[in-house]
Amino acid sequence: MIRSVVRGFGASLPKRVMTNSELEEKVDTSDEWIVQRTGIRQRYIAGEGETTASLGEAAARAALDKAGLTAADLDVIIVATSTPDNTFPATAVNIQNRLGMHHGAAFDMQAVCSGFIYAVATADAYIRGGLAKRVLVIGAETFSRILDWSDRTTCVLFGDGAGAIILEGQESSGTTADRGILTAQLRSDGAHKEKLYVDGGPSTTGTVGHLRMEGREVFKHAVGMITDVIEAAFEATGTTADDLDWLVPHQANRRIIDGSARKLGIPLEKVVVTVDLHGNTSAASIPLALNVAASDGRIKKGDLVLLEAMGGGFTWGSVLLRW
Ligand code: UT7
Repeated sequence: MIRSVVRGFGASLPKRVMTNSELEEKVDTSDEWIVQRTGIRQRYIAGEGETTASLGEAAARAALDKAGLTAADLDVIIVATSTPDNTFPATAVNIQNRLGMHHGAAFDMQAVCSGFIYAVATADAYIRGGLAKRVLVIGAETFSRILDWSDRTTCVLFGDGAGAIILEGQESSGTTADRGILTAQLRSDGAHKEKLYVDGGPSTTGTVGHLRMEGREVFKHAVGMITDVIEAAFEATGTTADDLDWLVPHQANRRIIDGSARKLGIPLEKVVVTVDLHGNTSAASIPLALNVAASDGRIKKGDLVLLEAMGGGFTWGSVLLRW
């Protein structure tokens, strides 16, 4: 059978770092509160000329370099984002053009913080279905541009950045010893819209709007939803927490990450945490974390890696893959 194998990875961050102490000057908050409640110490904020497409392009170029490929070798580009450069055309098409690629297809995927999981699952379906041989999957965001910088309950949490992987179809034996994606589990439930949403849009207000979140309500659902899709991934593949080499979670909050790992019996030494460095970068957080842990040598070829995310919608999902 065909499996979608990671050929390359890359990431890009804005130049400007914003520390917690800088935020103390903007809103009534403290470094102590932010670190204790979230684990975040700093985040990157896009400056002039830095956009979701420019960050996504840089991450894509890094992933292509790593894979020893060029844009000519790609069939499809999928960009997971909730902060596109324009309402349309898709940011993926913008990045396709920036890469000098004028063949194949490019489109955006909108599942907020679970966007990268949804995009990887979609790329995997394209590859296994014979629609594409190589897919560039990018998670890219500039949440700083939809934050209400006077709302301390949200503005301290988010940051900007982009990460990318290249998936390639390779003939495999069909066992869990194969490299590549072993399963993807996706879920959504629109009943929770009011808990995490943006209060504007082309068809409602005609404006972009600002992010609104009932953090405590989101928190209450997070661990249960994450556990649900991780257990589904184990069940689909006959694997267990003991088989895992790495858990690479969506980086929203250190307490959610630790709570989920503890509930699933995954030792914290096997969990990749970058929320301290990047804050919550929504769809970019998993590929940014993958880039850190694969670049520093923690994630190695053949490792069993579990990705998971939960976010606005609600949407949630997991991907189990062998690196
Ligand atoms: O990625 C998408 C998914 N999103 C998430 O996963 C976010 C999930 N939620 C969370 O991570 C947490 O709920 C937060 C980090 C957002 C908040 O942590 P919490 O422990 O749930 O705090 P809370 O909302 O219960 O607020 C506790 C107190 C409140 O004051 P009172 O009512 O107890 O007097 C807040 O007003 O902390 C106050 N507070 C702050 N204080 C200082 C809220 N934001 C801040 C702040 N600085 N920035």
